[in-house]
Amino acid sequence: MAERRPVVWVSQPLYADIEARLDEWFDVVRTPTVTDHAPEAIAAALAGADGALVTLNDRIGAAEVAAAPRLRAVASVGVGYDSLDVAALAARGIVATNTPGVLTEATADFGIALMMAAARRMTEAERWLRDGRWNGWGFHAFHGAGIHGSTLGILGMGRIGQGIARRARGFGRRGLYHNRSRLPPGVERDCAAEWVARDALFGQVDHLVLALPYAPENHHIVDAAALARMKPGATLTNIARGGLVDEGALADALQAGRLAAAGLDVFEGEPAVDPRLLACDNVVLTPHIASATLPTRRAMVSLAVDNLVAAMGFGPDAGRPPHPVTPPFDASRGSGDGGSTH
Ligand code: DGY
Repeated sequence: MAERRPVVWVSQPLYADIEARLDEWFDVVRTPTVTDHAPEAIAAALAGADGALVTLNDRIGAAEVAAAPRLRAVASVGVGYDSLDVAALAARGIVATNTPGVLTEATADFGIALMMAAARRMTEAERWLRDGRWNGWGFHAFHGAGIHGSTLGILGMGRIGQGIARRARGFGRRGLYHNRSRLPPGVERDCAAEWVARDALFGQVDHLVLALPYAPENHHIVDAAALARMKPGATLTNIARGGLVDEGALADALQAGRLAAAGLDVFEGEPAVDPRLLACDNVVLTPHIASATLPTRRAMVSLAVDNLVAAMGFGPDAGRPPHPVTPPFDASRGSGDGGSTH
């Protein structure tokens, strides 16, 4: 009797030509349209699956794992994997994987763009112009916070943080960073960034960019106390995860004018955005698009497919997926330190 082919659930339509590679090995259950799956729907889909290709919208927690007796591998399309309960997956011996590296440059580009847009009030000025309020060049209009020559800080100096630091070298700025582990001297030199303690980072920078992965111990790492430590007139940019920032405290700091501006691509309750932030003119808000270029998104899906095929025991890397986040894994290839995956 022919051996049963493993069943793989693909939670969202991705890129048909890349997804098609799964057909060689698996019976693929596809999701025809972009779907906001309820937890019960995820559990139902996983109940019959041996493997899954998911995005960060498809949360897999202990209950979904418990409902998936055959599940062997979950490949997430994205570098952040806070949507997966890694402990619950690991406890069942299910391999989970992510897609670091391929999105570094696009995300670092966006981090710089968002920081600059916030500091230089670009979207606020554009809204004003579109409202028909511009009636002549204004000497005093839209003074922003300068970037050239400022002190730029990065919290979370993994791949993306380093990419931002390298780009920012051209601003003739002082570079500071905080990461759980200090970077080797050669990398620090290359990034022109100096390690400081976390509180010193908050207190010394003119522009702070968050590029660290979310974990429960980082929840609201930027809280009212951290914001109070920041220099008056500083800016905050978050391209990592919304849960890192206490959005209410941030709205207070922005409304009070203590912070000059914020650039936010991620939100704690996304897609919902705190109405107080929506009401602030000095915030640039984007819908979690830092990695959104076509080549980058295609590379992410391709890497996730490679991960899944290998984790399920097929293809040239059978049994050795390139980027596992569940142990046992080779820490030099992927996850581990709080700053190194992003
Ligand atoms: C990720 O990969 O974690 C981003 O948030 C989406 O690209």
